[in-house]
Formats: sequence, C-alpha cells, structure tokens
Amino acid sequence: MNSRVKLTKPTLPILATVVSITREKFIQRGRTLACTIALGLAGSFALALPECAFEDRLATRSDIHDWQYTLVDTTWRLPADYEPDDLVSLREAGFDDDRLIRAVVIEDLSAMRQAAIEAGVPIAVQSAYRSYAYQHNTFDYWVGIQGREAALGSSARPGHSEHQLGTVLDFRSEGGPAAWDMEDWAETPAGAWMVDNSWRYGFVLSYPKDASHLTCYIYEPWHYRYLGRDRARLVHESGLTLRELLWHESGMDR
Ligand code: DAL
Ligand code: ZN
Repeated sequence: MNSRVKLTKPTLPILATVVSITREKFIQRGRTLACTIALGLAGSFALALPECAFEDRLATRSDIHDWQYTLVDTTWRLPADYEPDDLVSLREAGFDDDRLIRAVVIEDLSAMRQAAIEAGVPIAVQSAYRSYAYQHNTFDYWVGIQGREAALGSSARPGHSEHQLGTVLDFRSEGGPAAWDMEDWAETPAGAWMVDNSWRYGFVLSYPKDASHLTCYIYEPWHYRYLGRDRARLVHESGLTLRELLWHESGMDR
C-alpha cells in the first residue's frame, strides 16, 4: 500500500508476448475446454483493453446474483445501495473473525483455510466485505495518508471496490502483520501457498504482479476474489488477469 507503481498503457509487443506465452502454456499442458475458449479469446480482448481510466459507469451486470461476472474496476462501479443479502460471519468458515462475507463463499473458504493449516501456513483475514460507505472512509483514509494521486493507484473510490461484492478478502498470515505492510506477502510461506493453491478453492488474485497496466492498481498479493472453482480455474489456466476476462465477457472491449 505504501509503494507506488506507475500505471502505463500496454504496448502491442508486450501484449503479443503475453498472448503467445499463454498459447504455449496451453499447448504444453493440454488443458480443458474452458481454457481453450479463454485462450481463443485472448488475442482479441487483450489487444482491445483500453487504457486505465477513472470514470463512474454503472456496471452492466450489477445484480447480486451476477457476482461471478460483475466487472468492478476504476471505470465501472456498483450502485451505492448494492449490498448482498446473504452476508455471514467469517466464523462460519472457521476464522476467529466477526467480519462479513457472502454465504456462497463459506464452503470453499473453509476448505482453503483448513488446507492452509494442514500445509503449515495458516492464513487470516485482514479485510472482508466493505459497504459503499465503508469504502468511502477507506479511500479518504488513504488519500489522507498518501495523497489523492497515489491513493487512486492502491485504493478504490466508493462503488469501485470489489470488496463491496462481498466475495473478496484481503489475507495475511495468521499472527502476522497486514500484508500491505510487507515487502511482498507472496514471498512468505503463506502468501506463496495462496498463489499456488487458492484457485483450487475458487479464489484468484485480482491485482497480480507486473500487471498494473492491465489491472489499473498496484500489485496486491493479499487481495483475492472468489469466483467459484470453475471460473477460478479458467482464470488460472488462461494466464489472463481477471479484469481482462470480465471486460471481454461484458462486451465492453468491442
Ligand atoms: N485495494 C483495492 C483496489 C480496493 O480498494 O478495493
Ligand atoms: Zn482488497
């Protein structure tokens, strides 16, 4: 959270390389049909993803039942009154934590928490569901700490945070500091385990490393969005960022 990354427009050669690496990965591994579809689409939407912008367009799929498909970024936002109707305590997934998450996440979150314990790398939650009003305060807090320009690269404006979906969690190591106070949480045993295994339980990193030009935010190794196992596998195997996939699915890149 403290560091700043310059957000730059992707160049065609870089994107061509990304697409080519992605295709190679597919050929090598002989992946699933879902992966084939994602890769087939990669060329068109990677090249068409527009430059990062700060706008206030209402997300086209912003019904609470569309949570696996809702595009929330610096351009597209949720309505201020978007509030999932199935929020439950993280205690239901075994965490010693009263914050909230959608019930639809509980089963896989519980399994992932247990698997992390069994791997010797217990995880805890730093931030969970955040309402529009809560995000308003969060964004203002970071503006106060970093200034508005830097805050825009690391904190979402109200309505623009995936945390409002109720399917997003910021993780840390159990007993450890907030991941954004560390150099790179993904380099720790728990953070690295999450990178390797979270998709198996339906979670993907929204803002992976070296992808700020695509995600429009700094690298956040702690911020995971739950998509369900099939869609998380799709993102994982495609090598694409979640934002690229959602832009394409929403038809906004065409
Ligand atoms: N840190 C992410 C971008 C958020 O505020 O939702
Ligand atoms: Zn987050």
